[in-house]
Amino acid sequence: MVQNKNNKAIWNIRIKKDTSSIFKKVGSSINVDKRLFKEDIRGSIAHVEMLFKQKILSFKIKNKIIWGLNKIQNEIIKKKFNFNSNLEDIHMNIENRLFEIIGEDAGFIHTGRSRNDQVITDFKLWLKSATNEVIGHLNKLTKVIIKDAEKNIKTIMPGFTHLKNAQPVSFAHYLLAYVEMFERDKIRFKNNLENLSENPLGVAALAGTSFNIDRNYTSKKLKFKKPTNNSIDTVSDRDFVLDFLYSVSVCSIHISRLAEEFIIWNSDAFRLIKLNDKVVTGSSIMPHKKNPDPLEYLRGKTGNSFGNLFSMLTILKGLPLSYFKDLQDDKELVFKSFDQIKNCILILTEVLKNFTPNKKRMYELANIGYTTSTDLADYIVKSHNLPFRKAYQITSKIVNYAENKNIKLNELTLKELKKIEPKLNEDVLKLFDLENSIKSKKSYGGTSFENVKKMIKKYKKESK
Ligand code: ARG
Repeated sequence: MVQNKNNKAIWNIRIKKDTSSIFKKVGSSINVDKRLFKEDIRGSIAHVEMLFKQKILSFKIKNKIIWGLNKIQNEIIKKKFNFNSNLEDIHMNIENRLFEIIGEDAGFIHTGRSRNDQVITDFKLWLKSATNEVIGHLNKLTKVIIKDAEKNIKTIMPGFTHLKNAQPVSFAHYLLAYVEMFERDKIRFKNNLENLSENPLGVAALAGTSFNIDRNYTSKKLKFKKPTNNSIDTVSDRDFVLDFLYSVSVCSIHISRLAEEFIIWNSDAFRLIKLNDKVVTGSSIMPHKKNPDPLEYLRGKTGNSFGNLFSMLTILKGLPLSYFKDLQDDKELVFKSFDQIKNCILILTEVLKNFTPNKKRMYELANIGYTTSTDLADYIVKSHNLPFRKAYQITSKIVNYAENKNIKLNELTLKELKKIEPKLNEDVLKLFDLENSIKSKKSYGGTSFENVKKMIKKYKKESK
């Protein structure tokens, strides 16, 4: 609580006893919200400039307050500021210090505003730049994936469904699937900026204010598009917090899916990729081990992102209007999610710079499990004008035959194939070539090498 000269809370005339010390301790948020100090000072400066323009504050007091606020900012940056948990939060800490520096005139700063609008203003300003920072990190990540893809257009791997070999695909095509996901994440984060563009400052506690304030002026100063419309909604609204936590959660899912696949592929059973020494850790007892800890970290942390989102959803559910202390936890959840998603994107970027695909093994595995059977079925439809279902049955018989003989489709002779389907001729043998299979998938969005090349070109152009 802000304290006066006698070290008493500002509300000490009304509330005669000191707040219970246990609540003072746990109810204080200064250790979390001190991260908002720059935004708090920026908001306060815009506020007093507006009060002066509206002739609510004198020129002299406005300047005195701004001078004091700048001094406080310097103190905090230089780590010379003494954060006091008795003063609850960043707003009270700064106001209290302003009293110490400029004296009683500091009391004018809180004219026509409340901590309720102040905290959301700070928070929205902070979230805007945090959101842009996440987008920046995602940009770097997608550039690295595109580089990996460029080197692997012709790398053939098995595409999976149900983790069973399905059809051969270009490894680049697989990597670009993740570019699509992270591009959607960027759009999701960008869209959130719209909800962050309304200025809460000046709605005061919940009802607006009788002072002749100019909220358009502070909106402009703080680079918001416009003031919020409803004072009660403004102090109760935390949708923008949910938006951020949700976007982080979806992005975490994408990171986690990639991490899981790479863990599987790096396993001794799969051996489709090899993680370089920079992104593995060892074992305390088994000297031979190289474990994919960074990827496991990414997969694990996803749980925390969901947890933060669910905490906020639960805090808001059934909360009457308008401000309640319950809302104070919003900042801790967002800061935690932000720090974590930033670290996760950076770690994933490192992993993607430090792995090698095992091209030989990828190719071999792609040729196991009759992955070109769909190509055969498609061919029968095209060359013999049969319905797909019929072609599917013929192909199934051929796969059964190969399976019984324990051979691959490309090891079948034309004679054997003709025994099952007499119409087939030697053209059919080309279908079992993995490269031909991939080349044929030319439909828009398909895995053909040509398509993949075009997509890489498109991403590169767009990311310039
Ligand atoms: N520390 C508070 C929070 O972050 C600031 C708003 C306090 N408002 C109030 N009426 N107690 O939620």
